[in-house]
Amino acid sequence: MSVKEFVIPVDKTGWKVADGSGMVRFTWDYDNGREKLLNLYEKGKRRQWDAKIRIDWDQGIDPDDPLGGPDEFGPLYGSPIWNKLSDAKKAEVRRHLVGWQFSQFLHGEQGALICASKIVQSVPDIDAKYYAATQVFDEARHVEVYSTFLDKLGVAYPINYNLKSILEDVLHDSRWDMTYLGMQVLIEGLALAAFGLIRNFTTNQLGKTVTAYVMQDEARHVAFGRNSLKDYYPQLTSKERQEREQFAAEACFQMQNRFLSEEVWETLDLDVESCKDWVKNAEGQIQFRSFLFMRIVPILRDIGLWGQTMQDAFEKMGVIGFANADVDAMMQEDESVAEEIDRQRKMQVEDTIAAGSEA
Ligand SMILES: [Fe+2]
Ligand SMILES: [Fe+2]
Repeated sequence: MSVKEFVIPVDKTGWKVADGSGMVRFTWDYDNGREKLLNLYEKGKRRQWDAKIRIDWDQGIDPDDPLGGPDEFGPLYGSPIWNKLSDAKKAEVRRHLVGWQFSQFLHGEQGALICASKIVQSVPDIDAKYYAATQVFDEARHVEVYSTFLDKLGVAYPINYNLKSILEDVLHDSRWDMTYLGMQVLIEGLALAAFGLIRNFTTNQLGKTVTAYVMQDEARHVAFGRNSLKDYYPQLTSKERQEREQFAAEACFQMQNRFLSEEVWETLDLDVESCKDWVKNAEGQIQFRSFLFMRIVPILRDIGLWGQTMQDAFEKMGVIGFANADVDAMMQEDESVAEEIDRQRKMQVEDTIAAGSEA
């Protein structure tokens, strides 16, 4: 399809498509959308939901064990520090760890909200602007649900220094693809793996529902990043791709080694150095941190950032084995789990209505 024929030729208007900073791009081509992105946009529109209606916020959270699940998954489990704690202190640690983790989700979601709106501004094509606009609304809803969850929990932490630093790098880069790479691939890829663990092990229905519904949206966001970058990266020079690989490798190291919940240990008057040391070296924790890269590694490979720098970095981090993981199957599962929870919710609503009409 050709570009819309304007009555006056566009180049006679004197308007440029990009401003000097490279942060804002207009397009006058309203007609040429890529099928994949337009389909994703249609899906994004159809799958909008209202967190106030779809989630039953009356469901409770146990303050002593907010997510339920086995203590063995706790970062300090098995350490001399953990073994010495009273039951009341263990409960406090559980509550604060969930507060810390969900607070980072909250701040990360705000980062995603800002990044998605930045993509609307800076991406050159109309199809991507359309889709990113649906993501802006998704991310606003995610901020809303995590904020509401944390209000119910009653423990919230400020943004972690390392998350803030990755977000700053992503936001201050004027190259539009870096926003996708930093947010849709790295930060959201890591978050999705963490969400997946929570969704699968938590026994708290509210925590499970919130996570499953957010994941259903995130699966589209990651697909958006993948499709856009897969089209774009082959067009770059090898030097330009190398820059992207270096950025991704550094961000991955930072994400693997620096999220050690130290704010929690400090707040609860535990020995910060011993706790950090334990979390850094305990076998279970090392495995947990590797697992967080289960989605990032195959996606980077898929979008063509798979040179020596990237492979060496993942080899060193011990996560190269995820290169062949089936991301599409994981995303499909994210959709099905959310749909199943939704189906059960609707059945409950129908039962309640039926019970009401019988009474
Ligand atoms: Fe999100
Ligand atoms: Fe997202």
